[in-house]
Amino acid sequence: MDKVAIFDTTLRDGEQAAGAGLSAQEKLQIAQQLERLGVDVIEAGFPVSSPGDFEAVQLISKKVENSAVCALAHANPEAVDGAWEAIRKAKRPRIHVFLSASDIHLFYQLKRTREEILQVSRDMVARAKKYTEDVEFSPMDASRTEPAYIYQILEAVIKAGATTVNIPDTVGYAVPQEYGDLITGILTNVPNIGNTVVSVHCHNDLGLAVANSLEAIRRGARQVECTINGIGERAGNASLEEIVMALKTRSDAYGLTTNIDTTQIHKTSRLVSELTGFIVQPNKAIIGTNAFRHQSGIHQDGVIKKAITYEIMDPKTIGIPASSLVLGKLSGRHAFQERLAELGYVIEGEAFKHAFQAFKELADKKREVTDRDIESLIEEELRTATEIYHLDHIEVTCGDHSIPTATVRLIGPNGQAVADAALGTGPVDAVYEAINRIVRVPNKLTEFTVKSVTEGIDAIGEVLIRIESDGVTYTGRGASTDIIVASAKAYMNALNRLLAAKKTRKD
Ligand code: KIV
Ligand code: ZN
Repeated sequence: MDKVAIFDTTLRDGEQAAGAGLSAQEKLQIAQQLERLGVDVIEAGFPVSSPGDFEAVQLISKKVENSAVCALAHANPEAVDGAWEAIRKAKRPRIHVFLSASDIHLFYQLKRTREEILQVSRDMVARAKKYTEDVEFSPMDASRTEPAYIYQILEAVIKAGATTVNIPDTVGYAVPQEYGDLITGILTNVPNIGNTVVSVHCHNDLGLAVANSLEAIRRGARQVECTINGIGERAGNASLEEIVMALKTRSDAYGLTTNIDTTQIHKTSRLVSELTGFIVQPNKAIIGTNAFRHQSGIHQDGVIKKAITYEIMDPKTIGIPASSLVLGKLSGRHAFQERLAELGYVIEGEAFKHAFQAFKELADKKREVTDRDIESLIEEELRTATEIYHLDHIEVTCGDHSIPTATVRLIGPNGQAVADAALGTGPVDAVYEAINRIVRVPNKLTEFTVKSVTEGIDAIGEVLIRIESDGVTYTGRGASTDIIVASAKAYMNALNRLLAAKKTRKD
């Protein structure tokens, strides 16, 4: 079967989403997971946009082995040179040059003529080509550009050396028929199009990003740009997991494959959600917590008799383990280790001992420990492994006739314990005030969300927060059966990320 290349832009367009705020190390962690997932191209960032992005792209370029590593560049010499500087160590480097093409952008934003745009596009592709064989070009806002002008630009940039031409629906305005017609038009009217791969890049402003991408693929596009969990600018980008699973589940309709190892989807989705702090909506196709849950009696009855009655995909194909046994307080090390392996975690030595201890403590509080509880617990363990300040002890008094008061003890960078206490408007405020008295980094809490991991009064509560310091947003997550403790852990997680970023900037 013919293949569609998967170009993942989670670390570039996905990271552009308001509030994502990933550090270079976190981006590397995601890039390495994307490689395990089997994506063909990782768009690692936009090097000239900030020193942080440059550093992350450079780091990813050095470490990624199999996927091509791509850097985005405006169509100007400094951006193209900077993109190359960041990816020059990659095994398979790609430069992606973009420039607006629609009259709306040309007239209102760039104040340039079509002829000028054509010339600059051609020149910058030629400049990128001097550095690497693999050059992609995007005429931005292509779906709102006159097709005849798009054909002209594409012909020129292909002549100048573009090996992939990408057709962005930048503002998510297109509808499937029309976008598909644009792809057919390109394939029939650009004389040298046979020398390149036609790529598509759709935004989700009308909720049509995946539908538009699939229609374009059906018409002959052979690269699709997408992100994990569909994150991205505004309403996001086309979601990788939806496109890949649509092509796989309906291979009868499309007759196409990808290089994706679908069993890595669940894990990748959780990692991206964990590090960006963007919670996946429960009813999200493929990776939402309800995506494989059957609530109605008739459906449950059918699935018990034969899964295919109401399930079009086996959850195991996206890496959701089939839970044959539920863990509880009588479960031993062996059962715990086996379940960790089924969930895709390799945890050994001291880290395993620590995780097992945390599992035992949880099992004492909770009758049944589910896979989601274990995932939450391991994520909590991984978070604390890289801390600068560690939450050692917390005590709170509150009620309708008392002033909320918190005492906290933290273990600092040199292993010393520091305790302090504070009053607050509520218990969480009191805890955060007490922590602030010790850590002393100015910041503003901008978001606070609590949700339970599973059902039941004994469920683990997960807290997600965002704080802002010097104009930069940091996310933090914490999990515990006690939501005040979870809130304290989330704050420590955000503060530790802030401190690590400040330290990296100083170094
Ligand atoms: O949406 C868009 O047009 C983009 C380009 C930079 C490809 O992200
Ligand atoms: Zn985009």
